[in-house]
This record gives sequence, structure tokens and C-alpha cells, in this order.
Amino acid sequence: MTTRPRLTVLGTGYLGITQAACMASQGFEVLGLDTDAAKIAKLQSGEVPIYEPGLHELVKDGLSSGRLSFTTSYDVAADFGDVHFLCVGTPQQRDGHGADTSQLEACLTSLAPRLRRPCLVLGKSTVPVGTAARLASLIAQLAPVREAAELCWNPEFLREGHGVHDTLTPDRVVVGVSSPWAEATLRQVYAPQIDAGIRFFVTDLATAELAKVAANSFLATKISFINAVAEVCDAADADVTVLADILGSDPRIGAAFLRPGLGFGGGCLPKDVRAFRARASELGAGDAPRFLHEVDAINLGRRTRMVNMAAEVLGGSVAGRSVCVLGAAFKPGSDDVRDSPALDVARILHGMGAEITVYDPAAMDNARKACPEFSYADSVLSAAAGADIVLLLTEWPEFAAIDPQALGAVTAGRRLVDGRYMLDPAVWRGAGWTYRASGIPSPKEVTSAELALGEPAPG
Ligand code: UDX
Repeated sequence: MTTRPRLTVLGTGYLGITQAACMASQGFEVLGLDTDAAKIAKLQSGEVPIYEPGLHELVKDGLSSGRLSFTTSYDVAADFGDVHFLCVGTPQQRDGHGADTSQLEACLTSLAPRLRRPCLVLGKSTVPVGTAARLASLIAQLAPVREAAELCWNPEFLREGHGVHDTLTPDRVVVGVSSPWAEATLRQVYAPQIDAGIRFFVTDLATAELAKVAANSFLATKISFINAVAEVCDAADADVTVLADILGSDPRIGAAFLRPGLGFGGGCLPKDVRAFRARASELGAGDAPRFLHEVDAINLGRRTRMVNMAAEVLGGSVAGRSVCVLGAAFKPGSDDVRDSPALDVARILHGMGAEITVYDPAAMDNARKACPEFSYADSVLSAAAGADIVLLLTEWPEFAAIDPQALGAVTAGRRLVDGRYMLDPAVWRGAGWTYRASGIPSPKEVTSAELALGEPAPG
């Protein structure tokens, strides 16, 4: 292919819109396709249905330059594209831990019979290893051009909230290919990244598929490791935040993804950990990936721990008590509430009879849809008005600036559990708050003997 390949992006969810807009911003002609006509109509008018910094501007620029357009027609897409990016969702199966790849199959069943000239079909969705080989034979069966429509795999590693940056300047590009022609075409597609010195890995299909689930499983393992250590700190009266700093300063360990707290959530890490283990078992990989079950269990255990701590601070029961929940998104910088640890904790407390009022800087609409049973407030102070306890569950930067006196003036009691280690225990305790966090020492009880001596007893 000597001229620049024309690109289609199939599926305009979080991944697809970002991919389409970023490729158009790099000068490619891009056509986005979705079967949801209402969504396509919105995108055509420049409306972006997700919260992602910088994306709205890129979509607008792409549309006005004429390089970015959208369609619902597979005929148009098949005719347009030299490279078709598959960006549809692969959620967790309803009745199991594996990934549900039915959207990929549906997409290819529509696209392949319309492929009449050589092209690449480039899978980006996260899939169980072996999916690409299966989809390649599906294309070979259905496409009029047979094997000249070649399937490749190109996992994405983008983080929500950083999608534009991670697409334009990824840490690495991984492509699983079966022919030198596919590699040469993808070198054209990723020329801006290759020219910028970003590593370009060319692999077989299976290695490329595994690159994504293995990366996410490792990140999840790191988070669960430090959260397991937080439980030990609790038992030992040690401080997990200091310990995480100490561990992270060893370059062999690294500080990234070693932040203790309420654990991981979102549309990727939880399902990828489960799907990786499920697929490894299917393939007969034996007991090796069994630890991923513990990674998941430690992560979910953090939510229970938070609930128990809230009950403990409230004297044993949360029934009938008013709980202010700060944070609903699964992480700051996002409006995504899929598998959000914050909402999960709130749901459990609600099930135990607590009254929940939630505030989140970005995810209120999604939270309302997911949990209509809660009350919602439009600021920290109004969410905390009359609350018996405040729970800080998502680490939005604005929560770090909360004034303990101002908050204390509106709550019914100065009780706070910090699920994300955002606040300074000494400052909050100094302002008369009961401050609790798992893995942070509680203030020492002063015994009457110590009071009489005027100094703490040794030990
Ligand atoms: C993740 C991967 O990072 C990305 O490469 C992949 O493409 C998609 O999945 P994302 O789901 O956007 O991205 O979230 P990420 O920023 O990785 O955070 C995942 C979760 O882990 C969040 O709930 C976050 O709060 C939590 N987390 C992260 C921690 O609890 N501690 C940490 O140290 C880091």
C-alpha cells in the first residue's frame, strides 16, 4: 500500500471514538461505524457521549477537516477501509468468568461478506487468547476475498481519563500479524509513533492477545498486593502509606499501581483478571494462574472491610444511619461507574439499612442511573449535611482540599473513613474527627496508669 491507508473504526464506544478521533488528528481519513443510529447521529453533530479530556475537541476538528465521518452502514465501511479497527466491547459473560466475544462475532459476520479487496481487519478489543485465530477462519469463510482480508491483533493499553494521550503516545505498540504485508501496512498506520521512537513489537496473534490481559492482570496483582499488606498493617499497627512509599522507591518494584485503597474497579481490570484465569484453565495451564483468584478476592475484600469499618465507627450498626459517600466513579478523572468500588460499598451499606447520599464531581448522571435508590447532592457540603459518617471512596483531587472544620459544622457527627488515604489523619483528628483508614494506626488509647504517670507506658 503506497498511499496512506484509509481506516474504519467499528464500534464507537470509549475505545472506538478515541481511536477514530486520534487517527483523524494524525491526518488519516477515518470512518467510524456503529449499529446504534442515535449514537452515530450525535457523533455526526460533534456530540461526544463520554467524559474524556481532549476528545471532544479532536472529534470537532476531525469533523470540520472532513477527515472524520460516521456511518451505520457496513457496505459503506467495507468499501471505505483498507484497515478496519475492531473496537467493540468484550464484557464478562453473564453466567461465567470468561469474556463474552459475541459482539466481535456479530461485527465480523456483518463486515466479512462485504470485503471484496485486500485489507486488514485489526482487532483491538481485549479477548481470550485464541480468539484471533478463530476469527481469522471466520473471515476466510465469509469474505469474498478470502485470506486477502487478513486478521491482525493490536491490543490497546489506554487508561480512561488519559485516552487521547495513551492513543497518540502509547508506551508501546503491539501488533500480532501473519504476513510481511500486514506488518508493512501497520508500520504505515503507526508511522507517527514509530518515528517518535515508541517501541513497535511485531508478534504472532496469540502473544499480542496475551499482551493485554497479562498487563492488566499484573497491574491488578500489584494493587492487591499492597492492599493485602494494608490488612497486615492493620493487624500490626503499621502505616501502609509509608510502607508503600518505601517499597515504591525500589526501582525494581516501582511506585506505580502500588497505591493502597479501596482497590480496582472499572470496565477492564476486574473482568480481565477473571477472563485471564478462566481462559488459562480452559487451555489446561494448570494451577499457575490460580493466584489471580486471590487477587480478585483481596480486591473485593477491601469493599467489605470498608463496610465493616463504617459500621464499627458507628458503634456496630449502620441501619437507619445517614452516610455521606464522596465519590461514585471507579477512579478520579472519569465518569465511569462500571464495577465502581465506591458504589459497591454504598450498595452494601444501603442493603444494611443505611441512608446514602452521594456526591461525585463527574459521575452523578451515571451513578443516578445505576443506583436510583440513593440520594444525590451537588457538593461535598450538601452531601454531608446531617450525615452520621462521611466515607471518602474515590480519590478526586477536590476531596483533598476539604476543610475539616467546615465539614464538621454540617455533619451530625465528626466521623470519617478514608478509603483512599487522601486526608492527613493528624489534621482531621486534631479537628475533633474520628478518622479511620485500613492500614493506618489508630490513635493509642491512653490508659489510666499512663495518665497517672503523665507519660506513656513502655511498649
Ligand atoms: C486499565 C489499564 O490501566 C489500561 O492499560 C487498560 O487499557 C484498561 O484498563 P483503566 O480501567 O482506565 O485502565 O484504569 P486504571 O487507571 O488502570 O485504574 C484501574 C483501577 O485501579 C481504578 O479503580 C484505580 O482507582 C485503581 N488503582 C490504580 C488503585 O487502586 N491503585 C493504584 O495504585 C492504581
